[in-house]
Amino acid sequence: MFARTALRVAGRRIARPAAVQTPVFRSSFNSSAKNADPEVHVASFAKGQRKIESLEVPATGNGPVAPPGADEKKVAVPFKKDGYSHLTPTLAKFTCPDKVAVITGGGRGLGFNMAQALAEVGVRGIAIMDVQKELGEAAAQELSEQTGVDVRFYCVDVRDSEGIAKTVEDIADHYGALDILINAAGIADSNIKAETYDIEKFRRLIDINVTGSFLVAQAVGNQMIKSGKGGSIVNIASMSGSVVNYPQEQSCYNASKAAVIQLTKSLAAEWARHGIRVNSISPGYMDTALNRVPALDAQKRIWVDHTPQKRLGAVDDLNNLAVYLASDGSAFMTGNNCLIDGGYTLW
Ligand SMILES: NC(=O)c1ccc[n+]([C@@H]2O[C@H](COP(=O)([O-])OP(=O)(O)OC[C@H]3O[C@@H](n4cnc5c(N)ncnc54)[C@H](O)[C@@H]3O)[C@@H](O)[C@H]2O)c1
Repeated sequence: MFARTALRVAGRRIARPAAVQTPVFRSSFNSSAKNADPEVHVASFAKGQRKIESLEVPATGNGPVAPPGADEKKVAVPFKKDGYSHLTPTLAKFTCPDKVAVITGGGRGLGFNMAQALAEVGVRGIAIMDVQKELGEAAAQELSEQTGVDVRFYCVDVRDSEGIAKTVEDIADHYGALDILINAAGIADSNIKAETYDIEKFRRLIDINVTGSFLVAQAVGNQMIKSGKGGSIVNIASMSGSVVNYPQEQSCYNASKAAVIQLTKSLAAEWARHGIRVNSISPGYMDTALNRVPALDAQKRIWVDHTPQKRLGAVDDLNNLAVYLASDGSAFMTGNNCLIDGGYTLW
């Protein structure tokens, strides 16, 4: 077993600062039912200092999710506060100065890119939740170094209700606020015929994409209600929640994203009285690690052909919509599902 860099005391978390250069963690998160003593691994990066902590949580039956592939790298630029006073009222509404954001699935892909975008419009704190520890920590470090934002990484599975509750509590304690949630964690299964779909596989995907989105929204929503300041929740659904993809069979994923869209509308209706807005983004086919696998090469040609803009979405193509939904620019919008798909769903 690896030596731990974090010290733990029952019921408390304690931290030890470490040099930013150390690239690898030795503390571990394992929420398998076999592990009697699981913990949420927390890495934070502020003012050039890396700090490692851990939160204890009771064991659940979850395991890691590690899709292969790699994204095109984009570099974020720091938000300059002195420039803010020069913005027109309309442009100022598209910023999120001094807000705090939580982003699930922020270790890579669309989630990480939207985190970069929020840093570029002034958020002061970003908490990334992801189940992949090395990836998530590297993402948090990269984001903090690029933008100077106080970034924390929580290695936690969105299916783990206790881990999520502790994590969200810790985020609120650390930043003293919680204003934005982007629920981007999700997995996809495709090319599986309904008549032979393995039921455990089916349940697992629904658990991550639907229950996971709900659990995080519930925990964050409760913090937003408690603060009395409201907030903005953005769920990453998919065009697959509105249309059936072609040519691959993926009934479970499609059903899961339809559920995310309806969950969005339901939460928006329930929480409007608390000043919480809830909207969803439904991307079309995006050029992320999720789709950068050789097995999908032939299908990708069909996807591009069926997309009026004749391309997949870039990994940062959701960024400005996410900023709009997170910011006061969209103050009167709630319960909306925004398709952003290069026109795919037009035909
Ligand atoms: N890429 C696309 O074409 C596309 C299209 C429509 C919708 N989406 C949705 O956008 C979201 C992000 O997709 P992406 O392409 O960036 O995928 P990705 O696989 O690159 O990133 C997803 C991230 O979520 C994390 N994750 C997965 N399961 C988790 C869990 N149980 N708990 C915590 N973290 C978990 C992964 O570790 C990963 O870092 C997903 O919800 C996906 O369904 C993607």
